[in-house]
Amino acid sequence: MLTIEGVSKRFGSFMAVNDISFDVRAGEILALVGESGSGKTTVGRIIAGLEEKSSGSIALKGESLPNRYGKTEFRIWGKRIQMIFQNPLGALNPFFSSADVLAEALRFSGKKVTDVAIDHWLAEVGLQSFHRHRLPHQLSGGQRQRLVIARALCMEPDLIVCDEPVSALDVSIQAQILALLKRLRDEKGVSLLFITHDLNVVRQIADRVLVMNRGVRVELADTATVFENPSHDYTRQLLEACPVPEYQAKQQETSA
Ligand SMILES: Nc1ncnc2c1ncn2[C@@H]1O[C@H](COP(=O)(O)OP(=O)(O)OP(=O)(O)O)[C@@H](O)[C@H]1O
Ligand SMILES: [Mg+2]
Repeated sequence: MLTIEGVSKRFGSFMAVNDISFDVRAGEILALVGESGSGKTTVGRIIAGLEEKSSGSIALKGESLPNRYGKTEFRIWGKRIQMIFQNPLGALNPFFSSADVLAEALRFSGKKVTDVAIDHWLAEVGLQSFHRHRLPHQLSGGQRQRLVIARALCMEPDLIVCDEPVSALDVSIQAQILALLKRLRDEKGVSLLFITHDLNVVRQIADRVLVMNRGVRVELADTATVFENPSHDYTRQLLEACPVPEYQAKQQETSA
């Protein structure tokens, strides 16, 4: 679905992203992990056209993405690649009701704005018809994130870049949102690049895992492989710092 080749990003003399290559397959959930400052958000923003890359190339379904986004580029690519952030409140206009938010997104992507369409997209993310009149501050954090997901989804994107989408939510709501994203992937076949520092979230949702450190790709493998047989010291350090059941079981097995 998405091919990233030799992408770098330089801020002044600092290389935030250094010659990264990977692919996101159709209908796949690829987790992007690494400690704070490793360049995960920068990669996500570059893919979504919010940040210019310094070098390298990105292609969506074989079509090369522009390096610099203006109005025209956003009109073309903006609906095909969506981005969801940690803080939905910051991503929503405080004066827009849920219906306004969805209407704007439907219009932007050239779709018909009808009450039926709005109710449909609310229902897709587990919201109800009466939520249509609510302003962002009248929704809970979990409901706001559901609305942001509906807004992304109603444009029928090929790829959604999710940057720590559940980090601000408590654990039970986290699980609901993760289950929702997984179901939507299954039903719509949308690909997700899922940025997180939480390895327990990764094991719940990801098909494969890309590990980054200091702007560099460390490893890319199936989720089970990364947790049970990490091939790099850096990945092992991450697993030690954020205990995951599979990894602990494997460690006990080998030390027994
Ligand atoms: N606009 C910018 N100007 C200068 N430096 C930047 C800019 N954006 C990011 N950086 C730097 O690039 C590095 C990578 O930042 P990035 O936000 O991509 O990290 P991250 O992996 O998402 O971290 P976190 O887990 O804390 O969100 C950091 O050192 C950051 O300070
Ligand atoms: Mg980040």
